[in-house]
Amino acid sequence: MSTSLDAILSLSKRKGFVFQSSEIYGGLNGCWDFGPLGVELLRNIKESWWKHMTYRPDVVGIDAAILMHPRTWEASGHVQQFSDPMIDNKTSKARYRADNLIEEHIARLESKGKTEQASVIAARLASVQTNEDFHSIIMEFEIKDPVSGTTDWTEVRNFNLMFETHVGPVASGDAKVFLRPETAQGIFVNFKNVMESARMKPPFGIAQIGKSFRNEINTKNFLFRTREFEQMEMQFFVPPGTEGEWFEYWRAERWNWFTRLGIDADHLRRKPHDKLAHYAAAAEDIEYLFPFGWGEVEGIHSRTDFDLQRHQEFSGKKLEYVDTATKDRYVPYVIETAVGATRTFMAVLCDAYREEEVGTADGGTETRTVLQFAPSLAPTTVAVFPLVNKDGMPEAAQAICQSLQQSFRVDYDTSGAIGRRYRRQDEVGTPFCVTVDGETVSDGTVTLRDRDTMQQVRLTADALEAEIRRRLQA
Ligand code: GAP
Repeated sequence: MSTSLDAILSLSKRKGFVFQSSEIYGGLNGCWDFGPLGVELLRNIKESWWKHMTYRPDVVGIDAAILMHPRTWEASGHVQQFSDPMIDNKTSKARYRADNLIEEHIARLESKGKTEQASVIAARLASVQTNEDFHSIIMEFEIKDPVSGTTDWTEVRNFNLMFETHVGPVASGDAKVFLRPETAQGIFVNFKNVMESARMKPPFGIAQIGKSFRNEINTKNFLFRTREFEQMEMQFFVPPGTEGEWFEYWRAERWNWFTRLGIDADHLRRKPHDKLAHYAAAAEDIEYLFPFGWGEVEGIHSRTDFDLQRHQEFSGKKLEYVDTATKDRYVPYVIETAVGATRTFMAVLCDAYREEEVGTADGGTETRTVLQFAPSLAPTTVAVFPLVNKDGMPEAAQAICQSLQQSFRVDYDTSGAIGRRYRRQDEVGTPFCVTVDGETVSDGTVTLRDRDTMQQVRLTADALEAEIRRRLQA
């Protein structure tokens, strides 16, 4: 893919998709704000996921609190295991993930043609078991700090990625809580509440969209790895023994969702996990080809009964399904689908971005930047323009605008030549533009222009809503 991340970042800021968090104070690393157009795109992605996952009788939704009882994170394993190996350079005070530092060194060697040395280090990295193993690779191969150029390293230590805070006014150990690092645990702890109140019976699922927080050491590549992000997760609870077929079912469903978002299937791939977590029966990622390379957007995991068993153990509460007819009881197995909303946003934005050579009215060519979102995801669905600001055209255009905004997000633009107005809408991905001209005033017709083909058709203003609806569903 030739699109550069810089071009997307610059468009994002210029047009109000994404801004750096607290930019006027110099920004806060790993945090981003969604602007007027970004918030619409993000909402449309979440809405598409919510409909796909919960508009069916066997899945219901919840919205759990971000702050949870601290025992949750002991049961889930996050207190003990949710950490990255970290190393500090004593001279520059820069901090790195030890594995990333080694990987970047390997990449540098490869780019210099030193492939033999690179593969020796890569083989060592693949067999790392402990933090000491990371440290000895860094020291033995004299991997230098890119900032200070020294090998003045500390030991490698584990750094827990959960953000801590305190409930109530006293910052004592008892009051310590975490900002959730995943939405999934809010679903597990509510398994029984939901099953009983919604009268669900396995196989059934619980879906949730919400913010998660991870104190990532390396935040990079725009929205790909951030400290505050949004996830869309679903846990599907099934009778033991049926997890294999449900895993296959959700693998297919989740792939279909991405292609229905309008993402080019050539930019997506499946990546089965080589190494499985001790509790996992199967796991696969869906990856997207970002401008920096392939990266995970979703994980689909067959998690056995690990999570519910752990919460039973730590809470002392039974988390079983009991069949009232047969008196059969069991702790359900779980298939999890976990996708980042904000990471998907980035994938959708990258996939939609195009720079095209197009003809101009005077016979020349120019470059147009266009975001070819699936029309249903576009932040603005239709833009309405009066050709000139006189002769009754603004009044007619405003009336059309008011009528269309009952059904769609509409923009109204009166400034500049009509060609420039089309380009501005192309750049933010608006799929349809309506122009009101002299004929509108006399016969009630307008032109409807398609973003991708740039073709215009003439139709009556009364027929616009039905035609736009038809095109949105096509
Ligand atoms: N409950 C399982 C779980 O959270 P995960 O693979 O750690 O699994 C799922 O996260 C998805 O959440 C990822 O595929 C990614 O899309 C998104 N995600 C995870 N960490 C992220 C981060 N730091 N920034 C943005 N998105 C992230």
